[in-house]
Amino acid sequence: MAFVLGIEGTAWNLGAAVVDDDCVLVEKMDAYLPTSGGIHPRDAAQHHADVIIKLIREVLTFAGENDLKIDAVAFSQGPGLGPCLRTVATAARAISLGFDIPLVGVNHCVAHVEVGIWRTEASDPITLYVSGANSQVLAYQSGKYRILGETLDIGVGNAFDKFARSIGLAHPGGPRIEELASGAEGYIELPYTVKGMDFSFTGLTTAATEAHEKGANLSDLCHSFQETAFAMLVEVTERAVAHTGKDEVLLGGGVGANRRLQKMLEIMCDGRGIDFYVPENRFLGDNAAMIAHLGNLQLKAGDVTAIEESAVKPGFRPDDVQVTWK
Ligand code: ATP
Ligand code: FE2
Repeated sequence: MAFVLGIEGTAWNLGAAVVDDDCVLVEKMDAYLPTSGGIHPRDAAQHHADVIIKLIREVLTFAGENDLKIDAVAFSQGPGLGPCLRTVATAARAISLGFDIPLVGVNHCVAHVEVGIWRTEASDPITLYVSGANSQVLAYQSGKYRILGETLDIGVGNAFDKFARSIGLAHPGGPRIEELASGAEGYIELPYTVKGMDFSFTGLTTAATEAHEKGANLSDLCHSFQETAFAMLVEVTERAVAHTGKDEVLLGGGVGANRRLQKMLEIMCDGRGIDFYVPENRFLGDNAAMIAHLGNLQLKAGDVTAIEESAVKPGFRPDDVQVTWK
């Protein structure tokens, strides 16, 4: 059995974890919290550079004290913010060379899917992966994770965060909007945009911001925002199920923590007689265990990354990855 160290740092979350085949042995996370507005890539990268040595030292100290010999180091090669990715890749290369262990570059989106499969009973699901920057419906088909549908503009989490900011809520806005939505008494019509198998969230965000400026009830607006955004995601997920004939749906990404989204997917899956899976919250949002886990799968398949091929890929898409571990 191998012990794999994984490092995540595509955006504002930096983390390091060690996993084996069955469990997460240790994980340490440290989030960069922007003081105002959105995320500034260089500030986030500076945060990562400031804390990465401390995080990795903590994780490796734990490994040393428990006699876990690290067999490989995995890192998020992309997609993500260039400066953040480069900080993490530099650390991973140094560890690989320093300890003379293989380096494994992994795709962050595929890691979200694989950690869900690992931590639930799912085996070959349609995955709805919804986070801040990404929103995709993925399915494994002939050697790759295919993107069956995706956002045409911003990720649904960013839509929540933007709308939240426009009504004066602190970042990240998703959880606050979910809370406010629970007190709603009415539904306000908002733009619903599904084009083919893709969805879009900017029209919804702008319309909700304008409705707020015109004095719409805040709870009703948060409820309607949530219902509309999630209905688009569930529609496309259901069509992906129908199209592929798969009989499992898996939810992943930070937005997956939303109970209403979980409920809507559960209702859809119950109606079709298929299984719905969602891992514990700690495996939904960005985490280092998922990077270590996918690194472990790739290591077993001999799919490691030469230093010369370890350049970061800010636009790395899941369907660019040849799946070697299935
Ligand atoms: P990625 O790099 O995969 O795009 P990320 O950096 O956006 O990920 P995640 O932790 O996967 O990070 O997701 C964070 C997003 O999830 C934020 O936009 C946040 O508002 C949203 N979110 C978290 N909880 C909820 C919730 N309960 N309801 C709606 N959105 C939520
Ligand atoms: Fe993520």
